[in-house]
Amino acid sequence: MNNKLHCVSKPKKYYSITMSFATRLMSMVLSLQIIAAFLFITAAASSPPSGFTMDLIHRRTNSSSSRHSNPDDLRSSPRADVFFDTSEYLMKLQIGTPPVEIEAVLDTGSEVIWTQCVPCLNCYYQRNIIFDPSKSSTYKERICNTSDHTCDYTLLYGDQSYSEGIFATETITLQSTSGHSYVMPKTLIGCSHNSSGFGATTASGIVGLSLGSLSLISQMGKDMLGAFSYCFSPERTSKISFGSNAIVSGEGTVSTPMFMKKEKPGFYYLNLDAVSVGETRVETLGTPFHAVDGNIVIDSGTTLTYLPASYCSLVRESVEKVVTSAERVTFPDLDTLCYKTNTMDIFPVITMHFSVGADLVLDKNNTYKAMDNGEAICLMILCSPMTPVAEEAVFGNRAQNNFLVSYDRSSLQVSFKPTDCGVTEDKPRDSTSAASFLQFNIKFVLFLVVLSLIRL
Ligand SMILES: *[C@@H]1O[C@H](CO)[C@@H](O)[C@H](O)[C@H]1NC(C)=O
Ligand SMILES: *[C@@H]1O[C@H](CO)[C@@H](O)[C@H](O)[C@H]1NC(C)=O
Ligand SMILES: *[C@@H]1O[C@H](CO)[C@@H](O)[C@H](O)[C@H]1NC(C)=O
Repeated sequence: MNNKLHCVSKPKKYYSITMSFATRLMSMVLSLQIIAAFLFITAAASSPPSGFTMDLIHRRTNSSSSRHSNPDDLRSSPRADVFFDTSEYLMKLQIGTPPVEIEAVLDTGSEVIWTQCVPCLNCYYQRNIIFDPSKSSTYKERICNTSDHTCDYTLLYGDQSYSEGIFATETITLQSTSGHSYVMPKTLIGCSHNSSGFGATTASGIVGLSLGSLSLISQMGKDMLGAFSYCFSPERTSKISFGSNAIVSGEGTVSTPMFMKKEKPGFYYLNLDAVSVGETRVETLGTPFHAVDGNIVIDSGTTLTYLPASYCSLVRESVEKVVTSAERVTFPDLDTLCYKTNTMDIFPVITMHFSVGADLVLDKNNTYKAMDNGEAICLMILCSPMTPVAEEAVFGNRAQNNFLVSYDRSSLQVSFKPTDCGVTEDKPRDSTSAASFLQFNIKFVLFLVVLSLIRL
């Protein structure tokens, strides 16, 4: 299998984000479409597009044959523990030899798997010990053939958090249903030496699960069918499963087509036809948001749900029409509908209507949140542009709570099954209560820059 990474002549000032960024990005994206084959948006170099030199082909070792030494493992599925941490769902995995546990944001909105590494130029606080590559016998820096030194990367996310580091190959180990470990030797990961903007999260890094070739699911190889499923519990530990175990079916399951966009490769798009607010169905038809080939990204790494302003205001108005018995209140830095009340009973149930009859009736906890020590309740579907992601509609992780969500690249479907995700033997973590934080992350990748050619 070939991966293509795009190369940039060293940009001088690639980290400069302003609101004009979106427009700049847009024009660059157009000129980049031709070379944007597998990676996410790679733009944002201040150098003109002519600075983009060439694609490179990087050959991976035949991973599918090396993954399974034990025949039992062919019938087993890798899986990992998942738990909530203030605004994100983190998954546990092990890296290195001997294996070291990390907890990383489970992110379907980005591609690269990375963890903080020592030495730190600029590290944020994480709960686990920071990974030390010098203590791992399987860690190998990737060498780039333009410069004969390490392959640097810079990643920027929608909430302006970023990670800078170098690419390396390393062993990743997951649990497996067979009882044996699922071992992924020579997995391409980012070793981050400079990252920031991770706020209240205690994660060690991010696990990208997008359609891009560097994501965890892509690097697992074809035998996992590009399939995975997770179940997000707001309070307890749950699981993410890969491969045959990830297929979701049975009573209550609804499925909707998965779309891919050439101009935004890697993202999982769904098509949202309408949102019902109580009994009122608010159609996208007749608004600029309407589409038939995907208009909303499903992103486990983004906390809230965002709709584009024109359509979102219709949804908001419908909520306002129902909630008449409470006084409006506002909060700084949170542009949404809030009311002075302590009960969710007065709010309408919100249903998302995805294409081909996939109706998701959302629990009120998925769409509203108590604020101000329970004195107020706010709608957690946001209209306002917070970042250059502005015009993207995003279906975030809070709205997905208590659904078993499966992504199946072979059938191009995303399925949802209402499930009490917290029904496990596992004790709740010593988690700092989510309610005390107002932290909404957007781990929707804006760009990935790889500074030089990768050689294998
Ligand atoms: C990779 O492994 C598979 C399964 O063992 C084999 O069929 C295939 O020929 C191998 N490909 C290469 C390039 O070695
Ligand atoms: C870390 O990365 C940011 C963004 O690219 C950059 O502005 C900053 O200078 C870097 N810090 C260090 C210590 O390298
Ligand atoms: C919603 O959240 C509240 C407060 O955390 C909890 O008491 C209630 O049981 C939740 N409702 C459902 C249906 O999960």
